[in-house]
Amino acid sequence: MQFDTAFQISASNVRFGQGATREVGMDLVEMSAKRTLVIIDPSLLDLHAGNTVLDSLRKQRVDFAVFSDVRVEPTDASFAAAIRAAGEGDFDSLVAVGGGSTIDTAKAANLYSTYPADFLDYVNAPIGKGLPIPGPLKPLIAIPTTAGTGSETTGVAIFDQLEQKAKTGIAHRYLKPTLGIVDAENTSSLPSAVASCAGLDVLSHALESYTALPYDKRHQPKHPSERPAYQGANPISDIWALRALEIVVEYLIRAV
Ligand SMILES: NC(=O)c1ccc[n+]([C@@H]2O[C@H](COP(=O)([O-])OP(=O)(O)OC[C@H]3O[C@@H](n4cnc5c(N)ncnc54)[C@H](O)[C@@H]3O)[C@@H](O)[C@H]2O)c1
Repeated sequence: MQFDTAFQISASNVRFGQGATREVGMDLVEMSAKRTLVIIDPSLLDLHAGNTVLDSLRKQRVDFAVFSDVRVEPTDASFAAAIRAAGEGDFDSLVAVGGGSTIDTAKAANLYSTYPADFLDYVNAPIGKGLPIPGPLKPLIAIPTTAGTGSETTGVAIFDQLEQKAKTGIAHRYLKPTLGIVDAENTSSLPSAVASCAGLDVLSHALESYTALPYDKRHQPKHPSERPAYQGANPISDIWALRALEIVVEYLIRAV
């Protein structure tokens, strides 16, 4: 086996800051959005995050509809409902407001409403066919309200495949949100149990990254585009992972 000699950092587009959620309406105007589907966790509709996003869209006169039939720990069936909604309203853009469950639902809705296909076509093999996504999707702005999954930065959508009782996903760089707006004000309503689980998610991701097989001990693909999203530990991800571990130790108990 020939070991790989390269890794690639594909940076995500993230805006970070207290109150940054209020800017989402302006972002949509700048993207020339004509009609936006807001996919939101139902429990956030009357909380700070939901109110701030919808106010911002109204202020900027963005035409939008709301889909809130999101399931926590989404399934193929709950994805299907969001896909139907996204395909019905002539939407040219999406906003996701919620935790990983909601952001992943919005990614699937964006994918299948842009490139309709049998559901299993894009799902990871061996459960699905693992077909590549044919091209770029509609703009998706992801506004996380938990602080663990990092779904606002990843090209992954995870769900439970009910029939096979499996947890699997869809993975492709085109699934990555166009912009992630990370605003600590949105996590202020989190129940402490969710804050602690999200913190343990950060801890696990950091430990996993830091202890993963290094990129240069992995098989070298024939073509650079075949390098997987999770390509092994490397000197850049080591810096992020170690800093994330320090932050968890320093702040998790206070956040909970
Ligand atoms: N796409 C990725 O890269 C990625 C990575 C890791 C995990 N995931 C997936 O993300 C999902 C888990 O997401 P999660 O941990 O962010 O939580 P979640 O979206 O499942 O939400 C957890 C709970 O918190 C509530 N909630 C969320 N934000 C809130 C807020 N601000 N105030 C009050 N309540 C709030 C929700 O209603 C829900 O009850 C899993 O399905 C997991 O597989 C995805």
